[in-house]
Amino acid sequence: MLLCVLCHVTTAWAFARMSDAVELRSAFSVARTSSMEGGPKMVVTFDKVYVNIGDDFDPKAGLFRCRIPGAYYFSFTVGKFPRRDLSVMLMKNRNEVQAIVYDENAGEERKVQSQSAMLQLDFGDTVWLRLHGDPRYAIYSNTGHYTTFNGYLIYPDVFGYQEPTHKSHDSEHQPPKTSDHSLSEHENTITKDTAVSMKENKRDEEIKEEDGRDGEEEDDDQRSAFSVGRTESIVGVDQGYPEHQPIIFDTEFVNIGNDFNLSSGVFKCRVAGAYYFSFNAGKLPHKTLSVKLMKNHLEVQTMIYDDSDTEKALQSQSLMLSLQAGDTVWLYSHQRDGFGAYSNHAKYITFTGFLVYPELHRSLPQQQKPDKTL
Ligand SMILES: *[C@@H]1O[C@H](CO)[C@@H](O)[C@H](O)[C@H]1NC(C)=O
Repeated sequence: MLLCVLCHVTTAWAFARMSDAVELRSAFSVARTSSMEGGPKMVVTFDKVYVNIGDDFDPKAGLFRCRIPGAYYFSFTVGKFPRRDLSVMLMKNRNEVQAIVYDENAGEERKVQSQSAMLQLDFGDTVWLRLHGDPRYAIYSNTGHYTTFNGYLIYPDVFGYQEPTHKSHDSEHQPPKTSDHSLSEHENTITKDTAVSMKENKRDEEIKEEDGRDGEEEDDDQRSAFSVGRTESIVGVDQGYPEHQPIIFDTEFVNIGNDFNLSSGVFKCRVAGAYYFSFNAGKLPHKTLSVKLMKNHLEVQTMIYDDSDTEKALQSQSLMLSLQAGDTVWLYSHQRDGFGAYSNHAKYITFTGFLVYPELHRSLPQQQKPDKTL
């Protein structure tokens, strides 16, 4: 009985929070203007803040703390310090290693390495960058801001993608924006468990709500996002390999909509629209790194390439594609001798994609509207 009452309270509260658009925004972009050497304090901190919507990132502590449960996209770039090694991991909470940049090359040169991934976060989860604790490792930065860290909320858990259309006519009934602060403070006092149950309650509500709406339930499906990692290197060999097999993955960070098949390595578009893709791969010593982003059958969209003498390093690429339902997107690494891509448990090879804007249903007569409202 008491439980039920609590359910109702949290559900009602979730709706109150949901309806405030500002509360469902979270984004940060920060930079570091000085170098940092590996040591006991491994959290990379930042001193230049470009964007911090929602104040979820604490630059002095170097911590992003999740306030809105959901799927987030993170990217970071770090500079390599001359004559030092580079190893920076994207961390979730205390120990979960997610993705890494790495350059084991004590050469004189300076360069930058980038990595990106999407993570599913619950209330209170922290995300941060960890520099290897050994002083042989260092990151380089100066006022040129080589070292940057970005993250933003792609899909909140507590609300369906259809909400923005509701908001337009509901907004007059919402409290003015001055309530932001009291809401966030309130939010900080709730526990992670509450946030999770809130999320589940919301799911139930969404299902119930669908009955009352005609034809709108498909909007609930207009979310698509994946982020996957691979913990094994890829080494091309000359014979016996079938050509043009997709790179397959073994770690799933996010797979909203289940549009990515881990074991086949193929993303299959379900919701037509504009998608953002990014991928990263490590270079194997003495191998050429050549990883291509493919669409459908052998249509190369973009690629990374590195045939330098560098021992180990990471390369990154990103692109937006306009996809129709049924289109497939996958990564291809040359399967010939002399080619390869490096990874290990720290997941150098990652592949991320998410729907940015679904295509509008122009063909459905009831949805024909003047252009400006589309
Ligand atoms: C994923 O791919 C594997 C390997 O191609 C296949 O056997 C399996 O049926 C696929 N799963 C789904 C859900 O399509």
